[in-house]
Amino acid sequence: MNEITHPALNAQTLVDLITSRRTIHMYKDQAIAQEVIEEAVFAAHQAPNHKLTWPWRFTLIGPETKAQINELAMKMKATNGPLEGAQLELFNQKRVYPQLMVVSQTVSADPRQSKEDYAAVSCAIQNFSLALAAHGIGSKWSTGSMTRHQLAYELSEIDQSTEEIVGFIWFGYPAKVPSPKRPDLSEVFRSTP
Ligand SMILES: Cc1cc2nc3c(=O)[nH]c(=O)nc-3n(C[C@H](O)[C@H](O)[C@H](O)COP(=O)(O)O)c2cc1C
Repeated sequence: MNEITHPALNAQTLVDLITSRRTIHMYKDQAIAQEVIEEAVFAAHQAPNHKLTWPWRFTLIGPETKAQINELAMKMKATNGPLEGAQLELFNQKRVYPQLMVVSQTVSADPRQSKEDYAAVSCAIQNFSLALAAHGIGSKWSTGSMTRHQLAYELSEIDQSTEEIVGFIWFGYPAKVPSPKRPDLSEVFRSTP
């Protein structure tokens, strides 16, 4: 094969999809088909990676574990006493999300490889989010303190000696789509003669 083929896709559709992807904070309590999740992991697995280290790992969190993770989040948030009133309401609203994927990176002793592997895992996460966005499903890459908590590793069944959590990816059908402002393209794009 001497050409890249992509049936049924035109460049504008792809750019439109990329442009429409947003980090979503509020979700509907609506289930996502397992095939759609698997398709997104398949898309993630197409990411580039230097030296073919295949550094990404995707752990889909089941309902029981999700409840335990939510409990841990609640404890971490309530360091100054139990959450009450509006604070508790906001916390609960933000915990409504149908699915959680924990993305981790295989650990390397070589700092240069670690950096390149992190870049590759980031590409995989973006592929994952875009594949979901194609189905109208929103996501949020979170790197909150929870992602570094030892219990998060234990609950996700991730061995800290061989993998590092890169992010929690919350995903589901959006209840609210934010519209953050981006700097003008001229601020980030230049060219040389
Ligand atoms: C590495 C990384 C970590 C992030 N961590 C968080 C996070 O912990 N909490 C959060 O609300 N958003 C997080 N985000 C999402 C950003 O806040 C979001 O991408 C940014 O606001 C721009 O919005 P957009 O994704 O809709 O373009 C993270 C994004 C990246 C790339």
